Order: sequence, then C-alpha cells, then structure tokens
Amino acid sequence: EQVEIDTTENLKGDYPHFFLKEIHEQPDSIRRAIGGRLLPDFGTAKLGGLNLDKRDFFDIKRIHIIAMGSALYAGQIGASVIETLARIPTQVFDASELRYSNPIVDKETLFIAVSQSGETADTILAVKEIQNKGGRVLGVINSVGSTLARLTHGGMYIHAGQEVSVASTKAFTNQVMLLNMFALVLGRMRDVPLSRGKDLVKEIMAMPEKVEEALKCGEIVKEIAYKYKDANSILFLARGTNYPVALEGALKVKEVSYLHAEGFSAGGLKHGPLALICPETPSIFVITEGEYFEKMIGNIIEVKARDGKAIIVTTSSDERLKELADDYIKVPEVDELLSPLVTIIPMQFFSYYISLALGRDIDQPRNLAKSVTVE
Ligand code: G6P
Repeated sequence: EQVEIDTTENLKGDYPHFFLKEIHEQPDSIRRAIGGRLLPDFGTAKLGGLNLDKRDFFDIKRIHIIAMGSALYAGQIGASVIETLARIPTQVFDASELRYSNPIVDKETLFIAVSQSGETADTILAVKEIQNKGGRVLGVINSVGSTLARLTHGGMYIHAGQEVSVASTKAFTNQVMLLNMFALVLGRMRDVPLSRGKDLVKEIMAMPEKVEEALKCGEIVKEIAYKYKDANSILFLARGTNYPVALEGALKVKEVSYLHAEGFSAGGLKHGPLALICPETPSIFVITEGEYFEKMIGNIIEVKARDGKAIIVTTSSDERLKELADDYIKVPEVDELLSPLVTIIPMQFFSYYISLALGRDIDQPRNLAKSVTVE
C-alpha cells in the first residue's frame, strides 16, 4: 500500500502555518529580489529581463498597471513611486474591469501586469486584450515560466520563492520592491540626480535588515490582535504611498479572519466612513514622516474624539503618537518611498493573529483559492 506524503506540509518547518512562515521569510525574499540588480556607483538598478532598448524608455508617456487582489495594491504603491521618481503618469487597473472596458492602447503607454502566480485568468485575459490591440506589456511575476511570464514582452521576476498560503505576503513585498527598482531606473533616466539615486540604492540595500527589525513587532501585534478579535469591523487609514498599504491590510484581514475590514484614505474619513467610528470599530492608522504627518495626527484626533480606538503603526518617533494611541506599533524609520515594505509587516501579523484568535483556517481561507484560473 502506498502512503501519500504531503511534501508541502513538510516545508512548514517549525511554523504552525505557511502564512506565518512566509511573513518571516521576507528579509530573505527581499534579498533575492534585490540580488545582483543594483548599481551603487550609478545610483540605479539593472533589470535584465525588460527586453526594452534604453531608447524605448524615452517614448513612455504613461504607465498602466494591471492586476488583481494583493498584486493590485502592490501596483498602486508602485504607481505612486513611479510618479514620484519618474514623473510618468501611472494608473492602476483592476484587470477584470479593464478587459471589458475597451481599453485605450497606444504606443506611448507601457502596460505592466503584476501577478504572483502568473495564472490569474482576469489578468491574463486583460493582457491578451491589450496585446491584440498592439500594446506592449511587461510582467512583474513570481512563477517562472507561468502563462503570464510567457505571454509578456519582457519583465522582472520577483524571486519570492514558492508562496503556499492563499493570502499573499512575501510575494506582495517583492512585487513592491521590484516596482520600486523599476521606478528608480525610470527616474534615473529622467529627473532623479545621481546623489538621490545613490541614496535610494543604499536605502534599498538596507531593506532586508529593516524588515528583519520590523518583524520584531510580532509579539506586540499578537496582543493587540487578540484584544480586538471581537471587533465589528476594522478600519485601515493612511495617506500617500501608504494608502495602498491600508487597502492591503484590510484585504488581509478580510481574506484570512473573515472579519469585515476596509481601507480608506485618511482624508476621506470625514466624507462618510467617520459615521462608522465607535468603540467596537477600531482604526489602524499608518503614519510616516513627511508631507502628510500633521494631517494624519488631525485624523487620529477626529477618531479619538468620537470614542474610536486608534491603533497606530508608525516609522516616526514623534511622542504625540504614543500619547494619542490606544495601541502603538513602531517600525524602523526608512525613506518614505520604501516605507510600505516595513509598514505592511504589522498588517500581516495583525491579520494572522486575529485569525488565529478566531480559529480560522489560515492557510486555506474558506471560498478562496491561491490562483484563480477562471474569470
Ligand atoms: C487570488 C488570491 C490573492 C491574489 C490574487 C491575484 O485572489 O487569493 O491572494 O492576490 O488572486 O493573484 P496573482 O497570482 O495574480 O498575484
């Protein structure tokens, strides 16, 4: 009689779930994403698989990113970094919508499909629609040799390694990292001077250690998650480059814990979501130094004034945050542009531990599949 051995199960090692294992793998997977791709002396990166001539870059007037799920939010972070560094207008599209929207395709628009599996039907069909119209599509893909990897004109493998948990963690951070490096390349060909490029390269090289340090928040986040396990709903609020981190944080909570969660721009709070605030509906704020800092403080005060609970995730050491917070999570200080790579860590832990507290099937949430190969 043959005994079936579940080899994937063995790969879990000492971790109770792949989700937790994959969260902890991120310093290493980010190292692989960066590996050999940076040119410190030139303050830029070398992305070998783009299959574009340097001169092709001058013709790019717009970038349209296409993806679903977590890859869509990684795309939104990438879009914000591309616009900041390269000043190229960049939009992000839900692939399932794009396919049927009679997309506008021209030779000045570069399309980028982002996908962990490379097998998501919605994304594949949108790419085919664009290609049928003569558009050029690059891939930001994890699975080597997957349908999207073969279909696209060129691209960047993210090298996250196999991701088993249905909810994405290390693939998400590597997608963000590759889009950041792509933004750096585009930026250095346009507005970004050598000195800023060199600083960014240094920041990128420091990311694996920064993420390692961020992972130390696991125990604190566990306590916080257990405390809020009976919440009605959880709101995620942020601004700027971290706005998509709020959306991804909320998606993680929905996917794995089945609790209702929603991400909003903190500025949008007063335009509706503020009505949801009550002691049973905590808000997680992601706040970094820079442009939006004081505005975010104002938003936290608005929530506190309405008996809301504020869980603050921050890269800043500003003392006011500790005073305002019901719960306070500090992550390492990093360049604003790269901050999503550290601010996402507490979101991942939060969704993990709240799901653990609720006894959910963490690696295989009900109704979901790792790779959705139907429309
Ligand atoms: C599914 C998964 C999500 C994932 C999305 C896109 O819905 O459950 O975790 O983000 O597909 O998958 P892809 O493989 O294209 O990144």
